[in-house]
Amino acid sequence: MRKQIVAGNWKMNNDLAQTEALITALKKQTKTTDAEVMIAPTATNLWQAYNSLKDSKIEVIAQNMHFAENGAYTGEISASMLKSIGINTVILGHSERREYFNETDELLAKKVDAALAKGMRVIFCFGEELADRKAGKEETVVGNQIKNALFHLNAAAFQNIILAYEPVWAIGTGETASPEQAQDMHAFIRKTLADKYGNDIAEEVSILYGGSVKPANAEEIFSKPDVDGGLIGGASLNADDFFAIVNAF
Ligand code: G3H
Repeated sequence: MRKQIVAGNWKMNNDLAQTEALITALKKQTKTTDAEVMIAPTATNLWQAYNSLKDSKIEVIAQNMHFAENGAYTGEISASMLKSIGINTVILGHSERREYFNETDELLAKKVDAALAKGMRVIFCFGEELADRKAGKEETVVGNQIKNALFHLNAAAFQNIILAYEPVWAIGTGETASPEQAQDMHAFIRKTLADKYGNDIAEEVSILYGGSVKPANAEEIFSKPDVDGGLIGGASLNADDFFAIVNAF
């Protein structure tokens, strides 16, 4: 049985006081599903969030990390640093990192390796742009993103990989992939994994959908057989909305 996961990516939102307020609101929520719940606050608030939630069922995760162990990389954070404050899962390859910080598949492969080497779990994000979809190239683009960043891994590594399909045209736009579009792509992603690693591995990897998931559309998206949860941006900044999504399975 694959894990169902709902992760809130807060992006560059919430200072310390806002982080504390949102965590207080999240702690009042009730989870009625088996879904694993994660939140990814900004780096400056990870320690505070970790301490506030360490005895709860909400895991605090990071939005990004560097591939190096340490050294002259001003402004960066390593896997060891995250581990040292109790963070065991990291989002890598978000389209905003790819777009604004020029993160390439090659760089992301190094980050994935560094995270896995420290025993961390990775939520690996990818997705096509609108022009790709209009040109009918969405499967080629997504297939290449997965192959280039992950297919050097051995099968066992996928125990610690969670995939997140996030069509760039649906992120923060209010436009969501239809449940059928999401299912079609998730089935393609699982087949891509199966072709390389076999069905047993492909069936175990959770594939999340991200892109304007809201309480109103979560249930239908999550009802699709290959959609194992969501990576939630805007709606994760409101505790009621986020838990309405968590409880939508
Ligand atoms: O990481 C989350 C995704 O970018 C989705 O963001 O829910 O605001 O569209 P969104």
